Amino acid sequence: MDPSLEFLISNIPPETAKILEVGCGDGANLRVISSIFPQVYCEGFDPMVQKQQINSNVALVNGTAPERLKHYSDKAFDFVFTRSVLMYIPSWKIKETLVEILRVGKHGLLIEQGGSKVSFSDRITIMRHTCRNLGNYQKYRCFHNFEALFKSLGIDAKISPLPFTLGDKFWDKYGVVILT
Ligand SMILES: C[S@@+](CC[C@H](N)C(=O)[O-])C[C@H]1O[C@@H](n2cnc3c(N)ncnc32)[C@H](O)[C@@H]1O
Repeated sequence: MDPSLEFLISNIPPETAKILEVGCGDGANLRVISSIFPQVYCEGFDPMVQKQQINSNVALVNGTAPERLKHYSDKAFDFVFTRSVLMYIPSWKIKETLVEILRVGKHGLLIEQGGSKVSFSDRITIMRHTCRNLGNYQKYRCFHNFEALFKSLGIDAKISPLPFTLGDKFWDKYGVVILT
């Protein structure tokens, strides 16, 4: 299993009954999670997915952060997670997205790329990559400075480098796990 998914699963708090994945893609992560925790209700949303019920415990809906998150009530989920999604959220929507994730989940785990020390050449590489991928969700891609973002929001979050390697230049250099 991919080490980031393994890490994610190992961090699902005990007694979790409801999980939300923001930017779930085709639901691959939620399928694995629900096979391990069949008693847990899993929901995911993504702009690229059509509404579908995978099985009685896994539902996917079409939606985009932060807008879709407003649909859920406070602490509606025990655990909310993202993996490799927040880099596609523009800087003018990232604060709202983080606030909403924290509002709807009792616990959060974000596995993302970010930081304040992104080199100039890596920024250029990402910008070129972004330009080549116009037409799909990679219209926009950026490194958010999560330490500064959480500080400015006055939110306590544990932000650490990835405790595993993925063999990818950007992930291994800029990958972070954020626990809330
Ligand atoms: C690299 S894929 C990661 C998919 C999945 N999270 C995983 O771990 O395999 C990025 C996903 O983010 C979704 N995405 C992009 N912008 C989004 C947004 N504003 N809100 C929710 N999902 C978004 C894309 O459609 C895509 O499915």
